[in-house]
Amino acid sequence: SPTRISIDPRTPGAEVPRRLFGTFVEHMGRCVYDGIHSPGHATADESGFRADVLALVRELGATVVRYPGGNFVSGYRWEDGVGPRAERPVRLDAAWHSTETNQVGLHEFAEWADAAGLEVMEAVNLGTRGVVEAADLLEYANHPSGTALSDRRRTNGRDDPFGIRLWCLGNEMDGPWQIGHKTADEYGRLAAETARMMRFLDPAIELVAAGSSNHEMPTFGDWERTVLRHTAGLVDHISVHAYYEQDPDDPQSFLASGAALDRYIGEVADIIDEVDARTPYGARVGISVDEWNVWNQTRWNEVDKPRVFTGDWPVAPRLIEDDYTVTDAVVVGSLLITLLRRADRVSMANLAQLVNVIAPIRTEPGGGPAWRQTTFHPFRLTAEAATGHVVPVEVDGARISTSRHGDVDAVDAIATVDGDIAHVFLAHRSLDTPTEVAMDLGPVASAEAVVLTVPEGGDRHTTNSADAEPVAPASLAVEVVDGILRFTLPPLAWARVRVQ
Ligand code: AHR
Repeated sequence: SPTRISIDPRTPGAEVPRRLFGTFVEHMGRCVYDGIHSPGHATADESGFRADVLALVRELGATVVRYPGGNFVSGYRWEDGVGPRAERPVRLDAAWHSTETNQVGLHEFAEWADAAGLEVMEAVNLGTRGVVEAADLLEYANHPSGTALSDRRRTNGRDDPFGIRLWCLGNEMDGPWQIGHKTADEYGRLAAETARMMRFLDPAIELVAAGSSNHEMPTFGDWERTVLRHTAGLVDHISVHAYYEQDPDDPQSFLASGAALDRYIGEVADIIDEVDARTPYGARVGISVDEWNVWNQTRWNEVDKPRVFTGDWPVAPRLIEDDYTVTDAVVVGSLLITLLRRADRVSMANLAQLVNVIAPIRTEPGGGPAWRQTTFHPFRLTAEAATGHVVPVEVDGARISTSRHGDVDAVDAIATVDGDIAHVFLAHRSLDTPTEVAMDLGPVASAEAVVLTVPEGGDRHTTNSADAEPVAPASLAVEVVDGILRFTLPPLAWARVRVQ
């Protein structure tokens, strides 16, 4: 029997927060060096940034970029990254057991982000540093002139303030792997006092308190409650970090990862309500899912990490360069559907990361072209089209049993409506059975659709590479019969339908 989908565009839900399509650049592995920045590359500009990577970043269509970490930020001295490049110190990066050259810092990155059309979301170090260093960075970045720090910025070549509005108060401070790891009370107090001084300096900023590193942390829940009690009235958002990986014996649960993200967001939302955590303006604190993706963490923890942390201190080593499959792309598309569905509580989100490090865009060491991973496509197609308001979708069709998330709809879907244009985003999570979809969206003048699925001759493990990108969107035939849209979704697919 077909999957019936209906939406009522007259009952829109939350406005689509365009910051939902954020991304993340960390000084980690080959994300910055040998990723976005590679002075020897044929396409590099005079500052060393690759034009081909920049073109793909623009094509991806992200809106925000979190920077410079991640775990890296918890040992970072921002001052190392400003001033004449030749005089910048080379440091050990204890977070990733690498050598940091500091050839990219605030100025270079902010200018690159500007060229890429990305709003910078700057993280401050609350691992080894505290209130004054965070306040100094804010004054350096945002104060117009006439003080030692703002004039130092101007001497370093930037007259106008950077005007950075979004700030993260540290990163994953609940994790024992974090440099400067803290208890919830220690972090909550530090975050509150840092927030207080930063707000005194620049009331226009928005602040993100660090929530748990993941839903499975033993302190999850208590951490959020404690941190929110300390920071209520001082922060605007609290973070959620969520990475999903495939158990090779249980792909069906992996494909239903959206259910786990949905539950995680729901639990954090309940805690915000329970604590009645408000922003300085009285609004409810938002949820910033500022790291999310598919990541093979088992391989990282068991195979790569022991090698990395006992080796030497390389500059820009290959770290967590996961090769994404079709299955991963369907999961990424489905996680985006969850984020849109939860747009009433999720104020922003960042796909972690942007280039090379668990990234939609890849480069190869030693030159060559930049290329798109499979996961590039659902992100680009959603970021491009999801505007206006979210509209809930009713799905009536086959259900799938999963060992980890119970029964879920085989087709996961959400819609957005902007004026007279509606987009429906669908993830088909069946591994083997196509489904006929019948979609009732009200009056339809025209409809078109694209689908991402297993390419001809491939299987669910097919990946893209520097040599070929077989996993790419293709057009999907839709017909309108008596006002009902009909099309066939192949198994393991993600699709976008545009209706006018
Ligand atoms: O994105 C990779 C790492 O994952 C980040 O540095 C850290 O915040 C998270 O644990």
